[in-house]
Amino acid sequence: MIEIRDLKKTYTIKGSKEKVNALRGIDITVNDREMVAIQGRSGAGKSTLLNIIGLIESYDDGEYMLNGIDVSTLSDGKAAKLRNQRIGFVLQDYSLLEKYNVKTNVMLPLLFDKLSSREIDEKVNRALEAVNIDDLSHRKVAHLSGGQKQRVAIARAIVNDPSFILADEPTGALDTKTSGEIMELFRSLNDEGKTIIIITHDPIVADQCKRKIEISDGRIVSPEQVEK
Ligand SMILES: Nc1ncnc2c1ncn2[C@@H]1O[C@H](COP(=O)(O)OP(=O)(O)O)[C@@H](O)[C@H]1O
Ligand SMILES: [Mg+2]
Repeated sequence: MIEIRDLKKTYTIKGSKEKVNALRGIDITVNDREMVAIQGRSGAGKSTLLNIIGLIESYDDGEYMLNGIDVSTLSDGKAAKLRNQRIGFVLQDYSLLEKYNVKTNVMLPLLFDKLSSREIDEKVNRALEAVNIDDLSHRKVAHLSGGQKQRVAIARAIVNDPSFILADEPTGALDTKTSGEIMELFRSLNDEGKTIIIITHDPIVADQCKRKIEISDGRIVSPEQVEK
């Protein structure tokens, strides 16, 4: 469960006194097994929020409780471990190692754990089956289509069996049909119990989520929040 109260984040631009208020006081609760879309224009603060939720970025003010743990009390090492075990990230540009094959890419999150090669194979195969590309295991990523690459990235995100999947514009580089197929996949992962948060500016993608939150200029504008 994600509980965020009055979250604020300011960036200072290097070499200047200028400050950017990326998040100006965000309140969100995401329960387990929800599927939520975060919508908003470019620069609204969506990626900042998702990266904070995913323990990639820090925040300046407010409170973030992840599964009952106050995130601000975690050491960097504990935060990294929690991120690796509990959170899977999917990005618009896939962020795969293009020169390597599918299996190598998908097994990367497992290298933190001390697993036998057999255990690794089992987990990788299960993840590839979940995204319907178990036949592509030995293919070089550079030779795959965009939709196939995003399936590889999703397999990598779920290989550790995390509770949360955070996706930043996961369909942004895909055509409409492939985008629909990837959303179908997220929905089936959600049906199986994953909590999913998807950033998108595509209303068709947002409509496939069960809840929508709209952010503008670092604040939630829909559903409307009560002024504090
Ligand atoms: N590392 C950074 N340094 C300075 N400013 C940043 C940084 N990351 C994001 N910003 C600024 O914070 C605001 C929110 O950015 P972001 O969260 O990426 O928005 P979105 O994902 O909605 O497009 C923007 O004005 C952006 O320029
Ligand atoms: Mg963004």
